Amino acid sequence: MRDVAVIGVGMNPKWGELWEMSIRTLFTEAALAALDDAGVDHIEAMYVGCMTGGLFVGQEHLGSMLADYLGTGPIPSLRVESACASGGLAVRQAFIDVACGMHDIVLAGGVEKMLDVDGAAATYALASAADQEYECFHGVTFPGLYAMIARAHMHKYGTTREQLAMVSVKNHRHGSKNPRAQFPFETTVEGVINSVAVADPLTIMDCSPITDGAAAVIVCPLEMAREKFKNHPIVQITGSGHGTDTIALADREDLTWLKAVEVSGKGAFEMAGKTPEDIDVCEVHDCFTIAEICVSEALGFFEPGKGGPAVEAGETTYGGKIPINTSGGLKSKGHPVGATGVAQILEIVEQLRGDSGERQVEGAKVGMTQNMGGSGGSSVCHILEVK
Ligand code: COA
Repeated sequence: MRDVAVIGVGMNPKWGELWEMSIRTLFTEAALAALDDAGVDHIEAMYVGCMTGGLFVGQEHLGSMLADYLGTGPIPSLRVESACASGGLAVRQAFIDVACGMHDIVLAGGVEKMLDVDGAAATYALASAADQEYECFHGVTFPGLYAMIARAHMHKYGTTREQLAMVSVKNHRHGSKNPRAQFPFETTVEGVINSVAVADPLTIMDCSPITDGAAAVIVCPLEMAREKFKNHPIVQITGSGHGTDTIALADREDLTWLKAVEVSGKGAFEMAGKTPEDIDVCEVHDCFTIAEICVSEALGFFEPGKGGPAVEAGETTYGGKIPINTSGGLKSKGHPVGATGVAQILEIVEQLRGDSGERQVEGAKVGMTQNMGGSGGSSVCHILEVK
C-alpha cells in the first residue's frame, strides 16, 4: 500500500438554506475550492458521497452528472452511499484507490440538497436509512431512535438531561467561531432544555438541522505531495477504519453501545499505530447530543458511561482531554448528510495545518474523524497526521 496525503480541501463559504443553488452548483463550488487549494487542474477519479439525491431533489446517477458539470472529462466517477456516513466512506474509497496504486490524484466529495422539500418529506427521506419494516412502519423517526438511545443511557449510567444539553452548548460555542456554520449562535443549558420538544428527552436544540451543503478533498500519494504540492504543510491519512452493525435498534445487545463506531475506531487506530491518548483534536458525528456522548465512549476517549460527566467537566473542549467538534459539529455547522464526513476531514486538515484561526487547537499534530450512518448501522473513522 502507498502512503496517502490530503493536498486540497474545500466547501461552500456557508452551509444552510441555500435556495439559489442546485445540487450541482453546491458540489461544483466545493470541488473547485478543493482543486484550487491543492493547486491541481485535473483529477483522475472521483467519489461522491450522497445519501439520497433521489428523495431530496429527484436526481440520481450523481457520479456521472457531477463529473460532467465539474468538467473533469470522462474519468471514473461514482456515488458512494451509506446513509449519513456516505461522505466519510467516499473519502475512504479515494484513500483505498490511491493507496492501492490505481490512481494518483483523486477527489472525494459529498453533497446533499435537503431544503428543497418540506420537513415531513425530509424526515421521510432520512428515515429511509432506518429499518423500514421494524422501525419506520411503526412511526419511528431518527430523533425518536436517538431519544430511545438517550433514555437507555440515562437509565444505565445516570447520564443527565443537563449533560446532553451541554454537548449542544459546547458545539454552538465552537460553531460561533466558524463563519461557515449554519447556526453560529451560542446557547445555554436552559435554552436547549426549554426549546421545542422533538422526541423526549430530545428538543430541537439537541438535534442537528436540515442543511444544504457540499465539501470536497483531494488526495494523492504522499511521495507525490512531497515533490509537487508544497503550498501547505503535508497532512497524511495514516489510519482508516470502517464498521457496520444492525440497522434496527431492537436487534442490538446494548442500546447504549455503538459497535460500528468501536470497530471503525479500532481499525483506524490499529492502522495508524495510535491510541485514543494520541489524538489532539477530533470531529465526531453529533447528529443528536446523545450520539456525541456514545461515540466518545465507543472510540475509547472515555469509559462506558463517562461521556456525559466528561462533557460536564469540560474534557471535550479547548484545554480538556480531547477537544471534540471544533467546527461546531453537525449541531451548529449543519448536517447536509452526504457532505458531513468530507467536511469533518476538512476541519481536521485545517487544524493540522494550523489554519483554524480562532478555533485552532494549539499544537495539534494528530487528528481524527468519525462519521456515522443512521442510528449506528455504519461508521467510518480516519486518523490524520501532519508530516
Ligand atoms: N437547531 C436549531 N435551530 C433549528 C434546528 C436545529 N436543529 N432546526 C430548525 N431550527 C430553526 C429554524 O432555523 C427555524 O428558525 P426560524 O423560525 O427562526 O426561521 C425554526 O427552528 C423552525 O425550523 P423548522 O425547519 O420548521 O424546524 P422543523 O421542526 O421542521 O425541524 C427538526 C426541526 C429538529 C425536526 C429537524 O431539524 C430534524 O429532523 N433534524 C434531525 C435531522 C436528522 O435526523 N438527520 C439525520 C441524523 S442521523
